[in-house]
Amino acid sequence: MTVPIAGKGSSPVPGRLHLGDDAIDLPAVAATAGSDGLAISSLLATTGKVTVDPGFMNTAACTSDITFIDGAEGVLRYRGYPIEQLAANSTFLEVAYLLIHGELPSHHRLDEFVERVDRHMYLPEDFREILSMQPRASHPMAMLGAAIQTMACFYPESMDPLNPAAVDLATVLLMAKMPTMISYIHRRAAGYALLYPVRGEGYVRNFARMTFARPGEAADLPDALVEALDTLLILHADHEQNCSTSTVRLVGSAQANLYSSISAGVAALSGPLHGGANEAVLEMLARIRDSGRDVPTFMARVKDKQDGAKLMGFGHRVYKNYDPRAAIVKKSADRVLEALGVTDELLDIAREVEEIALADAYFIERKLYPNVDFYTGIIYRAMGFPSSMFTPLFAFGRLPGWIAQWREMMSDPTTRIGRPRQVYVGHPKRDFISWEDR
Ligand code: SDX
Repeated sequence: MTVPIAGKGSSPVPGRLHLGDDAIDLPAVAATAGSDGLAISSLLATTGKVTVDPGFMNTAACTSDITFIDGAEGVLRYRGYPIEQLAANSTFLEVAYLLIHGELPSHHRLDEFVERVDRHMYLPEDFREILSMQPRASHPMAMLGAAIQTMACFYPESMDPLNPAAVDLATVLLMAKMPTMISYIHRRAAGYALLYPVRGEGYVRNFARMTFARPGEAADLPDALVEALDTLLILHADHEQNCSTSTVRLVGSAQANLYSSISAGVAALSGPLHGGANEAVLEMLARIRDSGRDVPTFMARVKDKQDGAKLMGFGHRVYKNYDPRAAIVKKSADRVLEALGVTDELLDIAREVEEIALADAYFIERKLYPNVDFYTGIIYRAMGFPSSMFTPLFAFGRLPGWIAQWREMMSDPTTRIGRPRQVYVGHPKRDFISWEDR
């Protein structure tokens, strides 16, 4: 029995599809902001036809209360709150609570959540052993995906996707152990001993210390580093139905547990067109530097599409205006680098590339602007992270959004197992050709 998809906006206009002499009504799904939807679930049964939309450019897979993006205006809101206000006034754990539970927490609720996460940051010795057996040169996103799946082995009591208590426990365990896992992945690659979380040290400061502290030395962690990292995590926390979030929802729609679904999201995020772009931006800027800062030649290669060259960190499926997250990161870049006592030629090159691109017809016509990945890598590098850790940091920030979207999908009565259709364009029926006749 299919549950009708209900919108929440006011009186949208339904659609009417004319196919030859037939006409079918497409019920409207009202939005509270942005585009209304047209429900097409009855199309196949009533017309024998399916819709075709590669990359789901125009297809909504669900209704959602969590995040709103206006690509034309460069607007991003989590549960209705503008990203600019959250970045300026909130903390990553408070934003995580907001995304997952739908409202800003009371002081008591936030203290409870922070304390519960703080209590669970520790990873068992056997878990550390498993991470320590991975080859040092392992790709960090491969290690992160495996580590998240491994949580199901260590915490089977939190696996049942239909048990609210288990889902709540898995939510807290993931939020708590993600920073510890990521710090271990970095230290494993660097050949450093794995450190332990310290109760009460603070979520992001704990992560930074476990990542950067030299054994036997007090960690030198300027407040500017911890604050900038907290803000970067907020900026990455959710982004509606992007590739990795849609992956998390699709895997979860089969009633796979939260760990398996998040691990699949990590795999999707690792792609250079998605979360892998922040690392690719640094490589691109370094190539421009090593070419003698010959930006015009590089831009010509991009516009001629030579070898599929792209301006990494530019363009977006939804934003056809400046990504509001990129604007916040760009604004803070100078302040953070100065506070960390770092200068970086790549930041100057990035600004030069942006200035040229925003004045160039190729990019203007295609509405290509800097996205969240264009400047973040420069700040991560200034903090001391190697570029191989940039995408795990993206995954760290996106974790509460993935969890919130998975939980919304699991509790949505219209959720069905995700199983897209196709238009078959292969051979018509034909008979097997025997060995002798071939
Ligand atoms: C993220 O979806 C999300 O919300 C993602 C994200 C999130 O928070 O989850 O915001 C995070 O993934 C940001 C995007 C990071 N990726 C990059 O920076 C990689 C570079 N960007 C492109 O690969 C591209 O812009 C995409 C993948 C981001 C979007 O691609 P689309 O929407 O499929 O657009 P398209 O490839 O159809 O491009 C349309 C035109 C093409 O030119 P024409 O064929 O019309 O001549 O624009 C061109 C493209 O060649 N184009 C670019 C370009 N991006 C698009 N040309 C040069 N450089 C680019 N970066």
